[in-house]
Amino acid sequence: MIVDILTLFPGMFTGPLTESILKRAQQAGLIHVRLHNIRDWATDRHRTTDDAPYGGGAGMVMKPEPLAACIRAVLALPPGATAAESPASPPVILLTPDGEVFTQAIAQELAGAERLVLVCGHYEGIDERVREALITRELSIGDYVLTGGELAAMVVVDAVARLVPGVIDAESVAEESHGDGLLEYPHYTRPAVWEGRPVPPVLVSGHHGEVAKWRRRERLRRTLLRRPDLLERARAAGRLTAADLAWLAELGWPSQAPQTGP
Ligand code: ADE
Repeated sequence: MIVDILTLFPGMFTGPLTESILKRAQQAGLIHVRLHNIRDWATDRHRTTDDAPYGGGAGMVMKPEPLAACIRAVLALPPGATAAESPASPPVILLTPDGEVFTQAIAQELAGAERLVLVCGHYEGIDERVREALITRELSIGDYVLTGGELAAMVVVDAVARLVPGVIDAESVAEESHGDGLLEYPHYTRPAVWEGRPVPPVLVSGHHGEVAKWRRRERLRRTLLRRPDLLERARAAGRLTAADLAWLAELGWPSQAPQTGP
């Protein structure tokens, strides 16, 4: 997968892209991240990329010309090793606090793309006309405001890259939080007793079936305690088995009387 990141601050990406799993994924050729400095497309003497908002008000707005020129240049880049590696019209995604909230489902969808173009806004945002003309999707990483889209782009790259086949163990992805709409079960490693706290006996029993059952139940318990909204969604999507529902009933869910049919 090729990821093109358009930013005024390419230096911000050095740490996250050059450590740990993202570093290995790039070394293994599974993802290729290309950073593009929007300022390189500014044409005036001062290489200006922002200006005061029309209509007045606080802050600065990213000027349309350098950003549009940068996006167009990146879209016109020659294909990668094969044409499929650099498809002609990849999604052009703006990171912005007023975008669609980024979820694991969106990460999964994006992991199937051959190429992503991520545009990092800064200051008060980008000129609306560039959004209309060139942006095909807008993502927010949560209901809070960052100083720019760079950290959000890193979050998206990290969450997407680990789902690209080969980047991490497929089994780790299978049962992790949010993968199938439930939170993850608790994890333990040696020693068997730490500061007087033993690990749950079932985990050292050697009964694989019992371990699997315990883990499923703990996922349900944790999701009920922390994110009951996710349980409701899992039930509505038909992802809970009869055994799951029986266990949840033991835990007191749903707390209100079940809805009867029409
Ligand atoms: N830029 C500023 N805040 C953001 C957020 N929450 N998500 C994505 N991009 C942003």
